[in-house]
Amino acid sequence: MNILICNDYEEMSKKAANMIAAQLIVKPDSVLGLATGGTPTLMYRELVRLYKEGVVDFSKMTSFNLDEYYPIQKSSPRSYYDYMRINLFDHVNIRQGESHIPNGEASDPHKECKEYDEMINACGGIDLQLLGIGGNGHIGFNEPGEYFEMGTHLVNLNEETKEANARFFEEGEEVPTKALSMGIGNIMNAKKILLIANGTEKADAIYDMIHGKISPKLPASILQLHRDVTVILDKDAASKFMFS
Ligand code: F6R
Repeated sequence: MNILICNDYEEMSKKAANMIAAQLIVKPDSVLGLATGGTPTLMYRELVRLYKEGVVDFSKMTSFNLDEYYPIQKSSPRSYYDYMRINLFDHVNIRQGESHIPNGEASDPHKECKEYDEMINACGGIDLQLLGIGGNGHIGFNEPGEYFEMGTHLVNLNEETKEANARFFEEGEEVPTKALSMGIGNIMNAKKILLIANGTEKADAIYDMIHGKISPKLPASILQLHRDVTVILDKDAASKFMFS
């Protein structure tokens, strides 16, 4: 693993955006795997800035998002569909129909998962996969469990993840309990992986991801087996790792 430690969230976000921009400069028709959540928002803002300055072009790329709540309407302001539209897709020249997100409106979630895997495979797999990490070590919404799920699947979000996600919902609003999530197999098949994390609440998961036993109980630990992983952290997320 190539590990970069940054002074703060802003530096982490800029470095990550530069790495995605570099990928698109070197291979404009890249297949990108994208993540949502709190961590990448500034990184997306930075990517939009690079696009507006003419540094990066999205017109030939394809993207697949890691996950989507299930069930959820695309039009819901809490959906990852809406998140991607607001944070990136509305501001750059991505082609219509080339940005894929698991469909939270699908009537048959298992069929949706199978078709999502088929689409990823038909594109030749993912060139660069962006990941955040949960405080419990989840990547995508691959929650800690007894085994690694290989393909896209319907997952029951665990209590810690629901609590963490609650910050994006209004009081009294129901936090989704399930999601459609790209599997560990899809993630590990990506040619390159970029994982970003900030904040002390991620420090334990980061330490275990790098130094812990490879186990589905800490899903991110599987990244130790991937040959091209870059981890970009702010000082807080790196705090346990740095002083160990
Ligand atoms: C979201 C995703 C999740 C998040 C993780 C961290 O697409 O894949 O694994 O990366 O839950 O979320 P934040 O960034 O909100 O701390």
